[in-house]
Amino acid sequence: MYLEEIFGLKGKTAVVTGGGQGIGQVVAVGLAKAGAEVVIFCRHGADETVKLIEEAGGKAYYVPCDVTSEDSVNQAVSTVIEKSGHIDVLFNNAGICYHKSTFEASLEDWRQVIETNLTGEYIMARAVAKTMIEKKIPGSIINMASMSGTIVNIPQWQAAYNASKAGVIHLTKSLAVEWAETGIRVNSLSPGYVATPMSIDPNFVEPELMAAWMPLMPMHRMAKPEELIPAVLYLASPAAGYTTGSDIIVDGAYSNQ
Ligand SMILES: NC(=O)c1ccc[n+]([C@@H]2O[C@H](COP(=O)([O-])OP(=O)(O)OC[C@H]3O[C@@H](n4cnc5c(N)ncnc54)[C@H](O)[C@@H]3O)[C@@H](O)[C@H]2O)c1
Repeated sequence: MYLEEIFGLKGKTAVVTGGGQGIGQVVAVGLAKAGAEVVIFCRHGADETVKLIEEAGGKAYYVPCDVTSEDSVNQAVSTVIEKSGHIDVLFNNAGICYHKSTFEASLEDWRQVIETNLTGEYIMARAVAKTMIEKKIPGSIINMASMSGTIVNIPQWQAAYNASKAGVIHLTKSLAVEWAETGIRVNSLSPGYVATPMSIDPNFVEPELMAAWMPLMPMHRMAKPEELIPAVLYLASPAAGYTTGSDIIVDGAYSNQ
């Protein structure tokens, strides 16, 4: 009962961007199990996530949204307000990465990563916070950062990704201070390597790269996406009432080395 009081999300509506697969999908199920109605914002459909949540006894629906387009985001947010009345939690999770050296990458590659990972989170946070302020909701925004926002991964080169995630960490601190008096809390989450399509899909990560990563991880394994749920639940719930502007690192001590 006590745990439900401080970590429960009954009656809350949580938006999860990029929740059709990977971390977003797993965390969406976790938010639903804690009692939230979950809305997945995704470009390509999220039937599987909605089914997983319904099978777990939760409530969910999917709204098409490209986080890089302000029109698309505003439309998606309006749809949630019409259907659910309010948004209490935003898990700003959608993101992309490429591995190319700075001279191999085109300016378009750079722009795409910054547009998705940094500008996309900014557009989403702004649109959702506006509804929280209008409806006087002391909401929680959780921005997906990464340990790459503070360390430089090796041996792959991914300057745009690292810069985008450093930007997310400081955007988070900036919005937390700017919106503190409204009751909206803004925090970021910085995982290390997590076993999702982004980090284990052989089309994206060659076996040699995986072999190079493993010895660099103090725990000699990636995080399971499930291991991020408790940190998100903490930040989303009343338990984190005085936690804002923080970056929660869940990296198995990778960045301590
Ligand atoms: N996997 C890791 O090792 C790891 C580590 C640290 C941080 N992260 C971050 O976690 C987040 C989720 O990553 P993941 O590993 O689940 O990756 P993933 O590739 O499995 O999922 C990313 C999701 O974002 C969606 N997306 C991408 N661009 C979008 C756009 N413009 N509009 C809407 N949705 C969009 C994709 O469709 C996909 O559903 C990302 O922000 C990533 O940078 C991942």
